[in-house]
Amino acid sequence: FQPKLLAGRRVLMTAGPTFEALDPVRGLTNLSSGKMGFALARACVQAGAHVTLVSGPVSLPTPQGVTRIDVQSASQMHDAVFGALPGQDVFIGVAAVADYRPSQAAADKIKKSADTLTLELLRNPDILAAVAAQPDAPLCVGFAAESRNLDGYAQGKLQAKKLQLVVGNLVQDSIGRDSNAVVLYDAAGRHPLPPASKDDVAQRIVSHLAGLLK
Ligand code: PMT
Repeated sequence: FQPKLLAGRRVLMTAGPTFEALDPVRGLTNLSSGKMGFALARACVQAGAHVTLVSGPVSLPTPQGVTRIDVQSASQMHDAVFGALPGQDVFIGVAAVADYRPSQAAADKIKKSADTLTLELLRNPDILAAVAAQPDAPLCVGFAAESRNLDGYAQGKLQAKKLQLVVGNLVQDSIGRDSNAVVLYDAAGRHPLPPASKDDVAQRIVSHLAGLLK
């Protein structure tokens, strides 16, 4: 691993889940420990980058040298990303962002009464797609966590969100684990990486990313 692959580059990232409040004690969330995103932040710093990490609620220490912004909801993550976006060379979306949020968050704890309760959900902003659509967008990297048809869904995200790179993983290989097995997808095709620790996988992603930046 060459330590200076990203020397002087500015990298903005998201990691972890988002939490969409329903009332003061409940909410909707996605499964994500933050391990993959934090490993990638560490690898980017080791490669010489200035890293800003917008993180949803996780219980991980901040990697050395990383500027961390903590958020809860997808809307807060969106605003934090756009606040930090000017001047970034690379944006990497590792976060498992909730696609929907409750249309209203109750100020007080919701009490049980009827046998059924219907929730109305609103679409959240797609942070990665919005960044990639900017006229002066940085190089954009997305992740795709799928339970099936990884190639199809990951390649679909590469095109639909206009990304330069997608890192595909199966949820059963990745969420909460210390290791991962990923496939990289870019304009040149499909590049499977050997299963390894998330730190090793992160270093290989950084090497590939540095090649795309040249
Ligand atoms: O945190 P770990 O336990 O280590 O697990 C790692 C991981 C499985 C969460 C990670 O490796 C991963 O795959 N993250 C992406 C999860 C996912 O499936 O994202 P998605 O398919 O919902 O979204 C695709 C891409 O768009 C992602 O880069 C996502 O960050 C981004 N996105 C999605 C929705 C949204 N509203 N805003 C976004 O930016």
